[in-house]
Amino acid sequence: MKKIVCFITLIFILFSLSACSGENYSDSSKNIVGIALPTHSLQRWSQDGSNMKEQFEQKGYNVDLEYANDDTNTQIQQIQNMIIRGCKVIIIGSIDGTKITDIIKEASDAGITIISYDRLIRNSEDIDYYATFDNYMVGSIQGQYIIDSLNLTSNKGPFNFEIFAGSPDDNNATFFYNGAMEKLKPYIDSGVLTVKSGQTEFNDVATQSWDTDIAAARMDKILEIYGANEKIDAVLSSNDSCAMGVMNSLTKAGYGSSEKPFPILTGQDCDKLNVPAILKGQQSMSVFKDTRVLASKVVEMTESILKGEDVEINDTTSYDNGKKIIPSYLCEPTYADKNNYKEILIDSGYYSESDIR
Ligand code: BGC
Repeated sequence: MKKIVCFITLIFILFSLSACSGENYSDSSKNIVGIALPTHSLQRWSQDGSNMKEQFEQKGYNVDLEYANDDTNTQIQQIQNMIIRGCKVIIIGSIDGTKITDIIKEASDAGITIISYDRLIRNSEDIDYYATFDNYMVGSIQGQYIIDSLNLTSNKGPFNFEIFAGSPDDNNATFFYNGAMEKLKPYIDSGVLTVKSGQTEFNDVATQSWDTDIAAARMDKILEIYGANEKIDAVLSSNDSCAMGVMNSLTKAGYGSSEKPFPILTGQDCDKLNVPAILKGQQSMSVFKDTRVLASKVVEMTESILKGEDVEINDTTSYDNGKKIIPSYLCEPTYADKNNYKEILIDSGYYSESDIR
C-alpha cells in the first residue's frame, strides 16, 4: 500500500514539474518562427522586425529574427539556419526576390510554411502566402498626390517632372511605378508634364538597392540638363530613401529659396529622417504603411497556420509570382503630409513629436 502511495505521489510531482517548466507539447513556445529581413539600416525593416518579434513573444513563441545586410547569400545562409533550428514558419522579406528559390524549396520540403513578407518572392512554387500593403495603391496615391498638388486636371502646365523608381530586383518596385504611372502617364502624353531627361521607362528610372546616393547621383546628372532659369516642378519618388537622395541633390543645386522652391516630391515609409523634411516643405508627402498593422496581420496568419486553422487572405488574383498566384493579404496604405501628419503619425502613436523634430 505504502509503495502505491509513493508511486502515485511521484507521478503527481513529475506531472506538476513538467507543467511548471512549460514542457507541454501544445505550448506555443515549441513553435519557432523564423523572420528573415533584408536590412537593419532602413528604419522600416527594423520596425517590421521588432514589431513582429514583440508580438510573437507576447504570445509565447520563440523567434529567430535575422537581417541580411542587403546581401542575398547572407539571407540564404540565415534561412538555412532557420531550417536547421526547426522553424515551423519562415517569414521572408527578400532582397532579390528571384534568387532564393532553392533554399525556399528546401524549407518547403522540410514541411515549413513560407510567408513572403512585403516583397513577393518570384519564380517559386513553394511560397504559401504573401502579406503586404497594396503596392499598386502606394503608387496610385503618389500619382494622385502630384495630380492634386499641381492641379493637373485644370492646369495646362507644362510642368517639369522627373521619375525615381525603386530597385529593379524588388518585385514591389514595378507595382509602385505602374500604380503611379497609370495616373501620370496621360499627363505626360498630353504634354502637361514634361520629362526633360526623357527617362520614363522603368529600367531608365529604377534605383538599384533603393540607394540614396545612387538617386542623388542620377538627380545631379538630370539637373545638368536644366537651364539656370528652369526648375523642376514635381518628382515622383517611390520611397523615402530615394526621396532623400533627390533632396540632397536639389539642395546642393540651390533649391529651397523663394525663387526656386522644392518641387512636389513624393516618398514612402514616413521614415524618421524624412518626416522633418516634410514639415520643412522639402518633401511633400510620404505614403504611410503602418508596420504595426502588417506585423500583427502576419502574426495572426502565422498563428492560424500553426493551429491548422484557415488563414485569412483578401486577394487571390493580383500576385502571380511567375509560378502561381500567391494567396495574399493586402493592408491599405495612406499618406502623411504637413497637413495631416499629426493625426496620421502622432495621434496614432506611431511617433512622438520629439521623434520627428
Ligand atoms: C518596401 C518599401 C521600402 C523599399 C526599400 C520595398 O520593398 O515595400 O517600403 O521603402 O522596399 O527598402
